[in-house]
Amino acid sequence: MPRFVVTPWEVKGKVDYDKLVKQFGTKLIDANLLKRLEKHTVKLHMFLKRGIFFSHRDFDWILDMYEKGEKFYLYTGRGPSGYTHIGHLVPWIFTKHLQDVFDAELYFQVTDDEKFLFKKEFRLEEAIGFTYDNALDVIACGFDPKKTFIFSDVEYAKTLYKMAIQVAKHITFSTAKAVFGFTNESNIGAIFFPAIQASPCFFPSVLKEKNVPCLIPAAIDQDPYWRPSRDVAPKLGFYKPAQIHCKFIPGLGKGGKMSSSQPETCIFTTDPPEVAAKKIMNAFTGGRGTVKEQREKGGNPDVCSVYQYFYFMFEEDDKKLREIYGTCKNGARICGDCKKMLAERVKKFLVDHQHKREKAKNIIQEFMLKD
Ligand code: TYM
Repeated sequence: MPRFVVTPWEVKGKVDYDKLVKQFGTKLIDANLLKRLEKHTVKLHMFLKRGIFFSHRDFDWILDMYEKGEKFYLYTGRGPSGYTHIGHLVPWIFTKHLQDVFDAELYFQVTDDEKFLFKKEFRLEEAIGFTYDNALDVIACGFDPKKTFIFSDVEYAKTLYKMAIQVAKHITFSTAKAVFGFTNESNIGAIFFPAIQASPCFFPSVLKEKNVPCLIPAAIDQDPYWRPSRDVAPKLGFYKPAQIHCKFIPGLGKGGKMSSSQPETCIFTTDPPEVAAKKIMNAFTGGRGTVKEQREKGGNPDVCSVYQYFYFMFEEDDKKLREIYGTCKNGARICGDCKKMLAERVKKFLVDHQHKREKAKNIIQEFMLKD
């Protein structure tokens, strides 16, 4: 029995990323690739240095093409099932970095159809409502309005559908079952949906009337979608889409990824800063039972959710991060102080992000693609 599960709809258990790379057939981002990338950036992004973006398919080919003068576009997305949480921002922050470094256009898909089809009691109107709310978070990440195209599947259906049926014709039900685990109980909308998520790998090439390489930054849970997309690409005369995958930012509880289904261990971008601070004060840490014991034996940052937040997003300075790690281990730092320090940073981040979300309301129409 596998000790962990990673699918686009479920992430369970302690993920062994090395095993996952083998299981999914992707490649680890190695030192050579990082060196190559470093040539194009002023400074290697923290997510790369820390191995948060850790795996890829054909990212080396994307760089080959770019170095030959062929620009690529970025494609990523969101399933609008509720408010955005901090975990979702990880791939988007990195996508914005890639947009800046490579001057790349971004196609951002909001799969209101997916959430309607896969979530039992979810109404279509709710999904469409969250499409617009979540788009504010995307815009708040700072993407260039001239180079960023956000679209709701439901509202961009005409363009999408034309591509989706071409993709769908090349994917058999037997492949869809093997990749996504569909059963006789799956609704037929869900079975068709992978063709919709594959479509933005190709339709920008159609819009531009020339083949353009596509790079998809996302967490590794989305990878199953790209396998049939890559198989179909040459059959339709397109380049295979390339991917760069990140790990999951954990929740504030003991293990598991940050997930909206556990709101008490999840920081939403819309949380009032004081509410988020309270969640952090209740977070699972690697601390000892008493302060005395902690001072004597030290804590365990390797299992601590608070330390993970510094690692993923809230301490950019490597030297300071090492100091947090070291002073936890030797007992100089106690969990209460560490939580307060993180809570202050997260509050500041949320105030700033929420301000940008408000401003995004005035410019959202500049970003939205419509048929
Ligand atoms: P969704 O809404 O589940 O997730 C949006 C993005 O966030 C990533 N993600 C995380 N990253 C780091 N830590 C976490 N805890 C965490 N949880 C989620 C996801 O991998 C994703 O990149 N079907 C998709 C929507 C979609 C899409 C795409 C995503 C359509 N086209 C292209 C990526 C690329 C979905 O429901 O994502």
